Amino acid sequence: MDIAAVRNDFPTIRKKKGVYLDSACQSLRPDPVIKAILEYYENYPSCGGRSIHHMASEVSLIVDETREKAKEFFFADDSDCFVFTKNCTEGINTVAKGSGLKKGDVVVTTDTEHNSNHIPWYMLEEEIGIKRRFSRSNEEGEFDIEKFKSVMGKNVKLVSVHHSSNITGCVVPIKDVAEIAHDHGAKVLVDGAQAAPHMKVDLKRTDVDYYAMSMHKMLGPSGMGLLYGKKECLNDLKPLMTGGGTVGMASYEKVELAPVPEKFEAGLQNFSGIAGTKAALEYLSDLGIENIQDHNRDLMRMIFKKTKGIKGLSVLGPKDPDRRCGVFSFNIDGLSPHDVATMLDKMDGIMIRSGMHCAQPFFVARKIEGSARASVYLYNNEDDIDRFAAALEKVAGTFGSK
Ligand SMILES: Cc1ncc(COP(=O)(O)O)c(C=O)c1O
Repeated sequence: MDIAAVRNDFPTIRKKKGVYLDSACQSLRPDPVIKAILEYYENYPSCGGRSIHHMASEVSLIVDETREKAKEFFFADDSDCFVFTKNCTEGINTVAKGSGLKKGDVVVTTDTEHNSNHIPWYMLEEEIGIKRRFSRSNEEGEFDIEKFKSVMGKNVKLVSVHHSSNITGCVVPIKDVAEIAHDHGAKVLVDGAQAAPHMKVDLKRTDVDYYAMSMHKMLGPSGMGLLYGKKECLNDLKPLMTGGGTVGMASYEKVELAPVPEKFEAGLQNFSGIAGTKAALEYLSDLGIENIQDHNRDLMRMIFKKTKGIKGLSVLGPKDPDRRCGVFSFNIDGLSPHDVATMLDKMDGIMIRSGMHCAQPFFVARKIEGSARASVYLYNNEDDIDRFAAALEKVAGTFGSK
């Protein structure tokens, strides 16, 4: 991968806006994605799937092409298995609320979930009395398949796990999880927010029933997501919202819902976002997701190597960089994560995240106040890591307590 050429595709890098190490929150966007969004507004700012005039037809075509691209990118069988959402959170909620879970049904998650894969289940426990079980991670914060097996049982109706953690970067073996869950008659929903941008996701091979993701973490527009579901699962799933676009035929007495995926896409859609999604998936395909994965691994190795020996540095999660997917969460003794983030930004324009990363239960359970988090993506280079490590060393040496 020609990183210099890649970097040149990103306006904020060309404009030297600083070192962006916050891609686990949102990625930067390359020119083709911005162009696709602008082209929608400049050339065909109309409604796909409804009007039949020539401008609307162009939009309908883009909508179809985007689903086709998603099918190819994620190795699925059918483009109709992809529902446009506004983010990963909406995808998870669609499955949580639409699966017809009843009192006493058990949902298994892990102890390392983002709130988006925690709160919906908590709410269902409050509202209808489902039961929640957690698969506990090992000491390094990694998914433990034996512990997962031990919480499975006959009342488990759904397993909902992250594919890669936004705190530790650890990857859950979703193919094995799906096999075990299916043996127990449970369906599997995967929160792919952090994994989909970084690693090859083969939906057919892994055999998961649902996979939710956010396009804004993978070069796409803000407020765009995709929910994949096996056709038979989506057919059975109730939509989160209904209204225009979700019906085949309706009278005042009777409503027939539209087929999948339209029955989930209520109201006028984010067409510029859909156009940007297509451009993002094309950009990622052109670079090759395996090349991106290798590059991210190299960056993680660099971070570990270059920050080794920094006074008072403690890293959350496994110390082996190859067992992490793009995120490096850490603390400096004597400093709050927000102090670290502010100082890195002020000193050398280094942008990282700090706090509890929308995963409060993880921190509360471990009695940790939060962490700073540097996250990398395909446009980061060695110079970024050098600047990050040098600034962190200075911060730790000057203000840390060790
Ligand atoms: C692991 C994980 N799941 C879910 C989400 C929620 O994504 P969104 O806010 O785009 O819906 C995030 C966002 O950071 C995440 O890291």
